[in-house]
Amino acid sequence: MTLDVVILAAGQGTRMRSKTPKVLHTLAGRPLVRHVVDTAASLEEARLHVVVGHGSEAVRRALAEKELDFCEQSEQKGTGHAVAQALDSLSDGKVLVLYGDVPLIQPKTLRTLLEGVDAQHMALLTVNLDDPTGYGRIVRNDDDAVVAIVEHKDADAKQRAIQECNTGIMAMTAEQLRRWLPRLSAENAQGEYYLTDVIAMAAADGIEIQATQPASSIEVEGINDRRQLAALERAYQCRQAERLMAAGVSLSDPARFDLRGEVTVGRDIQIDVNVILEGAVTIEDDVIIGPNCVIKDSVLRRGAVVKANSHLEGAEMGEGSDCGPFARLRPGTRLGAKAHVGNFVETKNATLGEGVKAGHLSYLGDAEIGRDTNIGAGTITCNYDGANKHRTQIGEAVFVGSNSSLVAPVTIGSGATIAAGSTITRAVEDDELAIGRSRQVVKQGWQRPVKIPKD
Ligand code: UD1
Ligand code: CA
Repeated sequence: MTLDVVILAAGQGTRMRSKTPKVLHTLAGRPLVRHVVDTAASLEEARLHVVVGHGSEAVRRALAEKELDFCEQSEQKGTGHAVAQALDSLSDGKVLVLYGDVPLIQPKTLRTLLEGVDAQHMALLTVNLDDPTGYGRIVRNDDDAVVAIVEHKDADAKQRAIQECNTGIMAMTAEQLRRWLPRLSAENAQGEYYLTDVIAMAAADGIEIQATQPASSIEVEGINDRRQLAALERAYQCRQAERLMAAGVSLSDPARFDLRGEVTVGRDIQIDVNVILEGAVTIEDDVIIGPNCVIKDSVLRRGAVVKANSHLEGAEMGEGSDCGPFARLRPGTRLGAKAHVGNFVETKNATLGEGVKAGHLSYLGDAEIGRDTNIGAGTITCNYDGANKHRTQIGEAVFVGSNSSLVAPVTIGSGATIAAGSTITRAVEDDELAIGRSRQVVKQGWQRPVKIPKD
């Protein structure tokens, strides 16, 4: 059977008090609806339909690179009305309904749910909650079979005491949906077309409703306000931290660790507090990351050390290399094995060979630096002439004295020495000494000015 997934994402999310549509608020750096779309896309052969309405343009843009069918719901008349907008685009197999504001639903739970669907059965995901306020309640008959869902606002006191709740996630055949949706009515407390009313129709048609539960309730938690968003973010981060610790990573404090993307880890890695990993990060064995570091789309080879307060993006650190404290490695940075980048050094599009040392206060951009070269404090590669970028090529075992400006394009041969304070504008050959600074003048017998007394 084919599978169509309908993702409801048309609601405004009033309680977020935001100009951004609710489903575009982020969890672990990804819009809520993206989590749902990515999970749905991981189901075999699924065709995805996203029902958009409030902030429709922005939602479409945020999901632009995915192959999705967007269905416009210009007026939000309820969850049943929302699903109906996708009805014409469905094939004749199974249909799964997901919510754009329930981000952490897992593929495994959905697969189990879908197994319960055929011409004689539909499937419903429910959850038992200590505080079911606001949720639709699952009504069962004397044989314990599900026969209806009653929305909180329509429920009587006895029904409100039911703790089994509707997660909103359900699955059925397209044929069943086509039969039931046109029969929904909006005569209820909220004046909406409730998708939940199809449950009573199913029961009346003799279709059995298979209720299953998720492995954990965080899978079905919906986001309605910023407090819930923050709570779910923490719950999610906590799980990621536990997964890393189980894989052999030491976290100084799992509550102060954030992963906003994917990380591949080796063993015996140490990560101090307040570290944020973003995008795609690879961390090999024995790496040490100090406190307060942000590491995005980077590779840290075996034994690399990132000291406190460093910021890395698009960088690769070689085996046993180190950077920081307060280092900034920007995109295109490649540190060779055992290279050392110290405090207040910024690198961009720069390759530092094995054993290169740039200990303090430098900008190295569009540069290639050969092995064992020493870059003195305050060295700047002047790579930008106001219009174009140019490269600086530095050979092996070069000594660049402190406070040197290397005006690109320029090359410095291996073994060369650059005198401190030089401005280098022409090529320096191998083993030469280049001094590019004005000569010091010393005046003998010079008198310091004396302050004239006021009378
Ligand atoms: C819904 C369920 C309730 C369940 C709860 C779980 C109904 C009638 N009620 O209630 O049983 O316990 O979810 O969280 O289904 N949406 C649209 N278009 C609309 C209305 C809603 O796209 O016209 C989308 C919203 O953007 C949201 C989702 O559907 O993503 C759920 O809508 P919401 O209004 O939050 O439903 P609840 O009242 O929470
Ligand atoms: Ca909701």
